[in-house]
Amino acid sequence: MPLSRLSLEHFRNITAAELELSPRFNLIVGANGSGKTSLLEAIYYLGRVRSFRTARPKHLIQDGQTWFRLVGRITGADNAEQTLGIERGPQGQTLRLAGRPVRQLADLVRTLPIQLLHSDSHLILEGGPRYRRRYLDWGVFHVEHGYHATWQRYAKALKQRNAALRTSRNPRDVAAWSPALVQAAETLHSLRSEYIAMLLPYVQGNLAALVDLPGLEFHYQPGWPEDTGLETALAERYATDLKRGFTQVGPHRADLQPLIDGVPAIERVSRGQQKQLVTALLLAQAELLMEKSRRPCLFLIDDLPAELDHGHRERVLERLLALQSQVYVTTTDANAIPVVAGDSGKRFHVEQGRIAQTG
Ligand SMILES: Nc1ncnc2c1ncn2[C@@H]1O[C@H](COP(=O)(O)OP(=O)(O)OP(=O)(O)O)[C@@H](O)[C@H]1O
Ligand SMILES: [Mg+2]
Repeated sequence: MPLSRLSLEHFRNITAAELELSPRFNLIVGANGSGKTSLLEAIYYLGRVRSFRTARPKHLIQDGQTWFRLVGRITGADNAEQTLGIERGPQGQTLRLAGRPVRQLADLVRTLPIQLLHSDSHLILEGGPRYRRRYLDWGVFHVEHGYHATWQRYAKALKQRNAALRTSRNPRDVAAWSPALVQAAETLHSLRSEYIAMLLPYVQGNLAALVDLPGLEFHYQPGWPEDTGLETALAERYATDLKRGFTQVGPHRADLQPLIDGVPAIERVSRGQQKQLVTALLLAQAELLMEKSRRPCLFLIDDLPAELDHGHRERVLERLLALQSQVYVTTTDANAIPVVAGDSGKRFHVEQGRIAQTG
């Protein structure tokens, strides 16, 4: 479901812009500080309702203004159109989908699957497990329907158990949350395991096209020792959970580690190979989503030349276009971007927050 139109108001340094987008390839060119990443950030915010640069959305509001508004029109497979809108102001945020207020954030996020490759993407390898969980959960969320509701049940049980750990002196109050916690945790674990089993062949396929890393394998760790099971693990850690005031085991501690010869891949690959590996991981999710649900992704690549060498830029863009992704690429130098989409691509020039279509 590509975005066919996008309007932005008071977002970062962009006062107002109305864009007609290509369903295939959108090249965004401009000097440093012109507003290229801000445009990608707006698209990302529309699809994920959060930024990849700040945890505080008020920083997204243009200096001197009190609100921003983003409106996107998406075109479905049968040419059916839907409008998606987010407005953020002093009173908070309103989300609208097809003219109606959105009550569940997940409904909006499901509408516009977005992948992002940018200067922080290496955190999938280099950062803590939460970056890899976020990667994994993006895929499970979009592919496995019951996942979100199960997460909500799990998060609620976890919150209650943690509250009981902090406030109650009676072990029974803590134990009372175990059945709900364990049941939701096991469902999450099995949905994640199924997703990983589906994903890995796509990861291997994309790795084969992008980077040669012999001995690479993926180790999934559900968040508790598999030999004992979660119920026992919870019981065993009760005393330290109590001391720390939170639950130390469960799917909120899961990890999916790429290993080479048994050590984290990050220890063994070059900077360029890291980027290729991360790209292969993201492409794999886009490919799986397309194959499983016939749903193309929006794929945002910030400063493509900084991420990949020339040969890889071409291979990645060609793969994305073959997957029917809607691709957005930013660069300071248009000559560094291979020509891939021919006439179906569009080019935009950004200068001091003003965006003009130039091709
Ligand atoms: N809330 C805001 N209001 C106004 N301007 C802002 C706001 N937040 C950031 N900016 C400015 O927006 C400009 C564009 O930033 P952006 O990161 O989009 O540039 P860019 O084109 O991606 O540059 P680069 O090529 O260096 O990555 C910057 O000069 C930044 O200082
Ligand atoms: Mg930038």
